[in-house]
Amino acid sequence: MKYFRENIEKAKGYKPGIQPLQTDDVVKLNTNENPYPPSPVVLQAVKAVSPDQLRRYPDPLANAFRKAAAEVNDLSADNIICCNGADELLTIAFRAFCDRKHPVAYPVPTYSLYPVLANLQNCSAIEIPFDSEFNLPAKLTGTGAALTIVCNPNAPTATIVSVNELASLADETAGVLLLDEAYVDFAEENCAALAKNFDNVIILRSMSKGYSLAGIRFGYAIANPDLIAGLMKVKDSYNVDALAIAAATAAIKDRSYFKETIEKVKKERKRLTEKLRTLEFEVPDSFTNFLLAKSRTYKASEIYDKLTQRSIYVRYFDSPGLNDKLRITVGTSEQNNKLLSALKEILSE
Ligand SMILES: Cc1ncc(COP(=O)(O)O)c(C=O)c1O
Repeated sequence: MKYFRENIEKAKGYKPGIQPLQTDDVVKLNTNENPYPPSPVVLQAVKAVSPDQLRRYPDPLANAFRKAAAEVNDLSADNIICCNGADELLTIAFRAFCDRKHPVAYPVPTYSLYPVLANLQNCSAIEIPFDSEFNLPAKLTGTGAALTIVCNPNAPTATIVSVNELASLADETAGVLLLDEAYVDFAEENCAALAKNFDNVIILRSMSKGYSLAGIRFGYAIANPDLIAGLMKVKDSYNVDALAIAAATAAIKDRSYFKETIEKVKKERKRLTEKLRTLEFEVPDSFTNFLLAKSRTYKASEIYDKLTQRSIYVRYFDSPGLNDKLRITVGTSEQNNKLLSALKEILSE
């Protein structure tokens, strides 16, 4: 179409996982949602929102959430910016730091939204391959990129790089280092301290995974106050709505429910990993709420098709390094059992 900028015209756009309309009898393990509901206090908080709060614009800074998130992360509110899902902060970062003369760099394979955003922003993307064990590539320093992104734990590999290694990377990076911690709630350590110690580090968090709130769209980022103030200039004035602020604030405050849910996912993650290994899948240890599994005996695309025919949705990426693997979200024990019996059936065909 003649109306679009050339790069938009040529762009393929981001392809999200299938969201089936009919959810009865479907085992949905394809978009890394949390299989457990959000804390009951979330619904109470949403119900308590008054008509007057809906009539007015929301707090542009979402200060109630910033205060709560600052306490959880042992920082102050001016270290925090709220966003309409972590994805929005990625868009804000590309707009803030990248253009034709200011490239982005990131290790691959990783979150497939990064190249999409680079293309929209018309900046070049320097992609540095991970080694076969997904160690941080040494070449990531010295790329000269204005923005370097490391997804940690990484999607879709489920692997993690240590805080010490990322501190060294922050030290050696001239531009901004954005650490996408969308899945960090399922790991044992996080990089929040780096945002205190380095003036070029942004830590990105999502409420979609650990807090079971993918439906409300809420995330936040942590950085030094000067970086936060700059990012604030780029965001929409009212980027998070009153209902989302109420829900996300209630969720992050309920520490015991959060911890309980994370432990349940980790327990199932361990069991599913072990069971898949007995079915001859290679599965690296996961630090997320999903597994990247490679069958030693069967083609990934065929397993994917056969699971889909049985209304069991997992994720298949037809791209180099990933097209022999399946990304499987850790579900409830019942969902995981359905997946495992279907796999047993398929692999014996
Ligand atoms: C690595 C990574 N970063 C960010 C996001 C976006 O999260 P949100 O739902 O908060 O926009 C996702 C979502 O799947 C993700 O996988």
